[in-house]
Amino acid sequence: MPATPLTVVIFGASGDLTARKLVPALFNLHRRGRLPAGTRVLGVSRTQYDDNGFRNELQEKISNFFRSAGEEWHETEWAEFAQCLHYVATDPTAPGGMVPLQNWFAEKEGPAGGQRLYYLSVKPELYPSMSTVLGEAGFAQENGGFRRLVIEKPFGHNGATATELNRTLHKHWQESQLYRIDHYLGKETVQNVLIFRFANTLFEPLWNYQYIDHVQITAAETVTVGSRAAYYDTSGVLRDMFQSHILQVMTLVAMESPGRYSADSLRNEKMKVLDAISVPKVNGKPQVVVGQYEGYRSEKGVPAGSKTPTFATVKLNVDNARWKNVPFYLRSGKGLKSRYSEIMIQFHCPPHLMFPLPPGEVLQCNRMTLVIQPNEGIHLNFQAKVPAVDGVRLQPRDLSFSYKDAYAGQALPEAYERLLLDAIHGDASLFMRSDEIERAWEIMDPIIQATEAADAPDPEEYLLGSQGPADAVKMMAADGRTWHALP
Ligand code: BG6
Repeated sequence: MPATPLTVVIFGASGDLTARKLVPALFNLHRRGRLPAGTRVLGVSRTQYDDNGFRNELQEKISNFFRSAGEEWHETEWAEFAQCLHYVATDPTAPGGMVPLQNWFAEKEGPAGGQRLYYLSVKPELYPSMSTVLGEAGFAQENGGFRRLVIEKPFGHNGATATELNRTLHKHWQESQLYRIDHYLGKETVQNVLIFRFANTLFEPLWNYQYIDHVQITAAETVTVGSRAAYYDTSGVLRDMFQSHILQVMTLVAMESPGRYSADSLRNEKMKVLDAISVPKVNGKPQVVVGQYEGYRSEKGVPAGSKTPTFATVKLNVDNARWKNVPFYLRSGKGLKSRYSEIMIQFHCPPHLMFPLPPGEVLQCNRMTLVIQPNEGIHLNFQAKVPAVDGVRLQPRDLSFSYKDAYAGQALPEAYERLLLDAIHGDASLFMRSDEIERAWEIMDPIIQATEAADAPDPEEYLLGSQGPADAVKMMAADGRTWHALP
């Protein structure tokens, strides 16, 4: 635990993320006694509140979230936690805008100083100016305790802007002070990929081209763009989900075992995977299919002729000895049949099958599914003999592990709780380093450009609540493979 006092400063405190994720996560950490004693949470934004106004506003929103999620609202604990909440109304990027903050810290921290975790929950366009004004005001100097800066995605819009953002950040901040959040890495089931692979001996010997035919990584959502059109229409699914979340998950599936469980050892191994990724091409073009759910163009805030994809599938290779000729198929979309994220490892079929199959039946070869959400768990699918006194009939069956059954009554921790606590403790293992971000863009940029080129076809429309566009199925069929259907 860091020495107190700690102040978590949320810039953009009147925004949605503060009430929806950040303060609920801090409140839960407080309830579990995981925040250092005396922690203060300081909200900063232009909206005029005093401390009590801020507390009341958050209480109303957060208690509603708890209730609508069917969770118990802890009135007494909130009242206690609310005393840690403070507010300063200012725009730090305006002339003189840092003064109220400097005054607040001078008064609260005094000459002894304190630890500070800054969280930029502001529009991405403001990252350069915010990080710079903080730096210029001396807010990055670790003279009285740590100074860490947490940044939300998107980190740039492409490789060039991401590199520029990193360059700007590095003017005032050391890389070790920067915590770039990818909330997928905070998910318990995503972290469990490492435990599953490297704390067991059973699976790792099979985890290579000799036994694996291909890998599918899926992040499917039922939700549509909702009120986020302004951001989403300029981003699209390839930037929103692939450049960060899905590539990050892929690195964990494909990486070698780090020597030590430390931020840099882990990130070095992830970086090696990113380095080895190549994009297979057909007729000189990356293998990508894009789709758009029906009605997207009539959503509030979406331009009538928008070509922004809300669904995509991408095929990638990892050019190293472990993954020779094992394609990774990545898929994500909104407005689909189910909210479902998984990693599916498709093993090779037996080289020779002595059991006759009924005409037209194809053997379902072994597959391992690591379900990220919901119904978190792991399933190993294998063939079993259907009990009968005569003949041999095969049927695929599952060996299953379910978090819900194994840890009954124990909710999985929210990604933001884990990540905020790690940032407070200075553990950057689950945060992305600048080189990872830049390399991820290097992979995605040509794919995105191919879909945005003037002669690129419109994304294929798919029905709301469906499995996605037909072309995604065709892409797999062309490789003689099929998607694991969304449940
Ligand atoms: C965010 C994306 O990073 O992740 C959203 O911007 C997406 O568009 C969300 O809906 C998905 O996260 P989760 O945790 O619901 O799978």
